[in-house]
Amino acid sequence: MDKYSVKDIEELNQRFENAEPEVLLSFFMEKYGDCIALSSSLSIEDQALTDMILKINPEARIFTLDTGRLFPETYQLIDKTNLHYNIKMEVFCPQTEALQEFVKELGINPFYENIEKRHACCEVRKLEPLRRAFKTLDAWICGLRKEQSVTRKEMKKIEWDEHHRLLKINPLIDWTESQVWDYIKANHVPYNKLHDSGYPSIGCEPCTRAVKPGEDIRAGRWWWESPEHRECGLHARTK
Ligand code: ADX
Ligand code: SF4
Repeated sequence: MDKYSVKDIEELNQRFENAEPEVLLSFFMEKYGDCIALSSSLSIEDQALTDMILKINPEARIFTLDTGRLFPETYQLIDKTNLHYNIKMEVFCPQTEALQEFVKELGINPFYENIEKRHACCEVRKLEPLRRAFKTLDAWICGLRKEQSVTRKEMKKIEWDEHHRLLKINPLIDWTESQVWDYIKANHVPYNKLHDSGYPSIGCEPCTRAVKPGEDIRAGRWWWESPEHRECGLHARTK
């Protein structure tokens, strides 16, 4: 994949500054064809993007990282989404041998002990499968929003990941949570039932809990860690 310079990225961000997500998506889906995919965690943002990209191209690629520790409701939503849109989401799982070795060494739930062990779990269950997904991609689409966290305020609509040599597209980066919900409701998009029970942000089951009214939307993710650490490494800052 040819490198995008800092200037190229700045120009693209200027060009699409006020563009609707669908305009941005159409442009990059046309440009990258089979080599662009939505990375979906089945969040409301990713479900809205799923709806948008399949309206542009019913054959568009969507993949999810199945860590093996997702909520039953999330697995149900994978099935429901596949049925609703008549698609088959690509599912990437951790490597059996590596996972067995990890569990043998550190135990099944080591993430609460310290941040190193938490990152080690995210590495084997999410990051290695993500790198495998990247092998067939030049660009990936994500559901990140600036509003979600202190770690996401500086993110841009279009970013270049020098480490993986990949373009990252964040069409909803400037959207508010209520804009996403408006889209979901207006377009009858299936969503995770846990959202109706106090879970605004959903990841792996052992690392996610419900939040109280008024609490930060990501307060239930890795709640035992401080806010600036609450990322799994999927979205390490790039240039
Ligand atoms: S996380 O890093 O804290 O887990 P978050 O749940 O907010 O991320 O999701 C942000 C974006 O990362 C999603 O919109 C999606 O693009 C991508 N993502 C997160 N988890 C997954 C997953 N399990 N599979 C695929 N993509 C994911
Ligand atoms: Fe492991 Fe928790 Fe990371 Fe999921 S979120 S991969 S269970 S540490």
